[in-house]
Amino acid sequence: MEIIIKKDYEQMSKLAAEIIAGQIRNKPNSVIGFATGSTPVGTYRELIRMHREGLDFSNIIAFNLDEYFGIGMDLSKSYAEDQSYTRFMYEELFNYINIKDENIHIPDGLTKNPDELCKSYEEAIKEAGGIDLQILGIGGDGHWAFNEPGSSLDSRTRIERLSEQTLDDNYEAFYKNAGISREEMPHYAITMGIGTILEAKEILMIANGVKKAEIVANALEGPVSNLVTASAIQLYQGKATVILDEEAASRLSSVKNTTSAS
Ligand code: GLP
Repeated sequence: MEIIIKKDYEQMSKLAAEIIAGQIRNKPNSVIGFATGSTPVGTYRELIRMHREGLDFSNIIAFNLDEYFGIGMDLSKSYAEDQSYTRFMYEELFNYINIKDENIHIPDGLTKNPDELCKSYEEAIKEAGGIDLQILGIGGDGHWAFNEPGSSLDSRTRIERLSEQTLDDNYEAFYKNAGISREEMPHYAITMGIGTILEAKEILMIANGVKKAEIVANALEGPVSNLVTASAIQLYQGKATVILDEEAASRLSSVKNTTSAS
């Protein structure tokens, strides 16, 4: 695993976008695993800028990590109101690049048959040839996607109950934007499993801010444990790049004084 520390969020985002763009230039029909959350927003802005300068997304295939169970993109509502990850991806990236709609895969949070959906999501990833580059953030409780503490490190795409900490971390957006309370927000999600994620050919994990410092150190340097599912990165056998800003890296003991400013 290569850990790169950048000065700030902007520099972290720029490098992450360069790595994604490099992947797409090398293999225009790359299968990219996309993540949601506030962390990748800056990376997606950079990708949009690069697209305006010619980066071509017309042949990429996208698979998103997860979606809340019980909600989905509802075009009769505004983004703020529907709060789905599907809507998030369109508003933050897909609407501004030339990806083809038929190449976008996001678990359908409104499915009536979640077990079948999870199975076919896994099959679709395989049929596409597997994920070439998986983008990941990290949740406050150390999760990847919505693989909450206690998830098996072999887990596959499935329905997962959100942890109390994730509900605490995420409910404000629901409340602020849509007046949906913590009790009313989805308590379950459809998520790729840790086993699914570890099959990606390459992993790009990003994290920023002092709030993430301790959990980042636990995941990267602590014991591999299903209580911090992102610690599975230590088991990963492919190429893993972790880009952190200085604040998120501040509790790491193994990589001091290696910040690159640009
Ligand atoms: C959610 C997503 C994760 C994401 C996490 C962190 O829980 N399911 O994929 O990594 O949020 O979000 P943020 O980047 O806003 O801290």
